[in-house]
Amino acid sequence: MNRQFIAKHGYASVYEQFENQTYDTEFLLGVLRDECGGKPQNILETACGGGRISVPLAEAGHNVTGFDADEHMLMRCYKRMSGLPNIRCYQADAVTSDWGNNFDVVVLAGNVLINIETDTDYAKAQELFIRKAAEALRQGGHLYLDFDLHANPAPFFNSLGESSYFNGTDDMGTSGRTVSYGSVCDPVTRICTGARHWELTQNNGESFIVSTLWHKHIPSQAQVYGWLDSAGFDLERTYKNFTAEPLGNPETEYVRATILARKR
Ligand SMILES: C[S@@+](CC[C@H](N)C(=O)[O-])C[C@H]1O[C@@H](n2cnc3c(N)ncnc32)[C@H](O)[C@@H]1O
Repeated sequence: MNRQFIAKHGYASVYEQFENQTYDTEFLLGVLRDECGGKPQNILETACGGGRISVPLAEAGHNVTGFDADEHMLMRCYKRMSGLPNIRCYQADAVTSDWGNNFDVVVLAGNVLINIETDTDYAKAQELFIRKAAEALRQGGHLYLDFDLHANPAPFFNSLGESSYFNGTDDMGTSGRTVSYGSVCDPVTRICTGARHWELTQNNGESFIVSTLWHKHIPSQAQVYGWLDSAGFDLERTYKNFTAEPLGNPETEYVRATILARKR
């Protein structure tokens, strides 16, 4: 079988075994309840992955559309949403596709902003996600944005040394682990890059390695706020580390930032 297929299938399964927390989904449900009039919303989740967030939103009565570029992630969402008439999902690249329009809420959650897969300029892709979110919303609609906010990314990303983040066995019997050798971060451009590989063993005992070079741009708070303003958003509420405490401006440490912004 195609090794890329096996690796991507394994990653989707193992990702979900690790990223299975629900507090961020419960937090989002609470924000929608408190800030959006307590009524079912017409929601778009861009980069919905395996439906960890989209499916509970639909179970809570919202009408949900989710899309993702990765078909292995999406297959998990497709399976999970079985029996729910108020959710649909489809495959598309968020950078190049039209996100639709007239949604009440666009959700960019689960740290999507710094996990965009793209061959284009990373910061431009981040800004584009925010602009496309505005285009997909009705006037007065809300963007819900949840991401890692690093006041100073260099100390966090400038680290060398072997580590493994994900390991496990998928539903086809492929077992594996990620091995990372660390990363470096340019403090001026805030571009961080690193090397890692997947060590995989198929269920017939055959082993192989898939290597990856990654890079991402870690946006500053001022950049995100500037992109939101240029796209036509007003900040309505901000939340620090999934609590009611608002973000400082500026934040001086790492925080998990959640922003509810309203389209003007
Ligand atoms: C960190 S995961 C988050 C998934 C989901 N939002 C969650 O919280 O469980 C990031 C997701 O973004 C998707 N993604 C990254 N770049 C994308 C792009 N250009 N277009 C569509 N999806 C993308 C990946 O396939 C992956 O499923």
